[in-house]
Amino acid sequence: ANGRPQISASFRDVAIDGAQSEDGAPEQGGSTVSITVVGASGDLAKKKIFPALFALYYEDCLPEHFTVFGYARSKMSDEELRNMISLTLTCRIDQRENCSDKMEQFLKRCFYQSGQYNSEEGFSELDRKLKEKETIVVEYTNLYEQIQNGYDCEAHANTYHQAGKVPNRLFYLSIPPNIFVDVVRSASRTASSQDGWTRFIVEKPFGRDSESSGELTRNLKKYLAEEQIFRIDHYLGKELVENLSVLRFSNLVFEPLWSRNYIRNVQLIFSEDFGTEGRGGYFDNYGIIRDIMQNHLLQILALFAMETPVSLDAEDIRNEKVSDHDQILIPTYNETESMEAINLNQVKVLRSMRQLRLEDVVVGQYKGHSKGGKTYPAYVDDPTVPSGSITPTFAAAALFIDNARWDGVPFLMKAGKALHTRRAEIRVQFRRVPGNLYGRRSRSVGGGGTTTVTELEKATNELVLRVQPDEAIYLKINSKVPGLGMRLDSSDLNLLYSERYPAEIPDAYERLLLDAIEGERRLFIRSDELDAAWAIFTPVLADLEANKVAPELYPYGSRGPVGAHYLAANHNVRWG
Ligand code: NDP
Ligand code: BG6
Repeated sequence: ANGRPQISASFRDVAIDGAQSEDGAPEQGGSTVSITVVGASGDLAKKKIFPALFALYYEDCLPEHFTVFGYARSKMSDEELRNMISLTLTCRIDQRENCSDKMEQFLKRCFYQSGQYNSEEGFSELDRKLKEKETIVVEYTNLYEQIQNGYDCEAHANTYHQAGKVPNRLFYLSIPPNIFVDVVRSASRTASSQDGWTRFIVEKPFGRDSESSGELTRNLKKYLAEEQIFRIDHYLGKELVENLSVLRFSNLVFEPLWSRNYIRNVQLIFSEDFGTEGRGGYFDNYGIIRDIMQNHLLQILALFAMETPVSLDAEDIRNEKVSDHDQILIPTYNETESMEAINLNQVKVLRSMRQLRLEDVVVGQYKGHSKGGKTYPAYVDDPTVPSGSITPTFAAAALFIDNARWDGVPFLMKAGKALHTRRAEIRVQFRRVPGNLYGRRSRSVGGGGTTTVTELEKATNELVLRVQPDEAIYLKINSKVPGLGMRLDSSDLNLLYSERYPAEIPDAYERLLLDAIEGERRLFIRSDELDAAWAIFTPVLADLEANKVAPELYPYGSRGPVGAHYLAANHNVRWG
């Protein structure tokens, strides 16, 4: 369906009458789906979630019978919600003429309910409206057939049961984390689907450290089974990150090199060319390590470094990222208890990682400066940031995986805001070619020059996966400069996505929303993964805070603190 590859036994593969989803509900074949965006008035909802839903609708990826609801405290009519949403919907996929018609049709399926986040009344009212829409959607779509069968239009109270459609519900928690549990409590009690599945997408941050994350998980699990919780890390929905496993496991030339025997170091780099503008209040409580490293970069690292999964099934992949081989996790409905028990026994990549030490971390914070007549603000100039804040907006770290495959290989992470460029990359630097053949046999013919050993050392192979912008995969190789001489040149074998695949790449939120609707859990974070991820970072975060480590200041728009270079040099690495 939807032209997407069939990757596991999610509903799209098994949508046949009577089939059951992971969470036990009858499958999509005969169902409606209601998607409620909680926090609909907020930044993420406007910027990412509604546009992603529209893009899915536009591409005919949403189930036929769907309704979108916004829920927040702000007072809004359905019409006002539609006006608000319409400002950020785009016909980015292409400029087909029917785009504005499609937009109109989509907006007609969008509704709004105002309410408090801890209010069962608010969610009961939502439940009432959801039922109404679920009924109407089915009633409308089956009207002709039903009238043929003697359907009484006035007595339509149980239409959706009559029509055999099962109402499924997805809640997207696009709200600050301190109200996650309130919403889950109220919504699960009063607005869960009676006959279908009910799932909750939860946005980061999932706590501030091991303890608070554990508490959040325990609280969520008071009301939800683990398989109802979809913890989103939108970097896992990015095209290049999805391609990482394909690159590794479907090309003979990479997997044999994927170990300490050939790889010298791996770099995971995230940089933004803007500051925390507008999000300083949230950011100051978290900092860059929690905002980017502990989740986005660590997830990429786990995918990069994991062993070959048994299959592409969600649990097989997630087991390789976290858990012990003999604890293959196949969740079934209402098995929360056994899942929790299994969670205690997790190992594999994340569990094989050393806890990060203070000496392997460098932190920085951007300061204001002026350039070309323009003034750039310091982090602490943001009115929502407390003056004198030492929250890092930049960090670099060296991590190690203590297993046979990666022993001694530094995995360097670098993440920063207000740097000179916006990019996210995975860089794999390979070892030197043993023997220095071309260094020894330097030969100069016709002014071609020679290549010295030093130059060769610099020109080791490097594989780069550019996650954004300008998605690309390129491999730096050495080749001979044409001519009579023997001069080597480092050049690229380059797969530039925009040239090879002209179609626009879907936004990460599109993929992840569709997966959640389809019950595909592969790209969502399991609670044991989360525990393992926090275990790596919690001690160093505590040390940074306890020691009040002052961040090295770097000018807005610069390359970041020089400390990051010393850190890399300590591990014989040069940043790419
Ligand atoms: P917002 O701060 O915009 O909050 C979303 C909505 O929640 C607001 O419109 C508001 O709605 C309500 N709200 C805000 N503050 C409070 C409060 N203190 N108490 C109760 N309700 C409140 O958040 P974002 O949209 O930026 O982010 C939503 C979630 O997504 C957060 O968990 C965030 O960490 C995460 N996230 C955000 C990203 C982004 O780019 N924005 C990126 C990645 C993750 P109302 O007043 O109408 O009820
Ligand atoms: C979010 C962080 O998770 O990711 C933000 O909270 C960051 O601080 C954002 O800006 C980056 O996402 P993207 O997809 O724009 O690279």
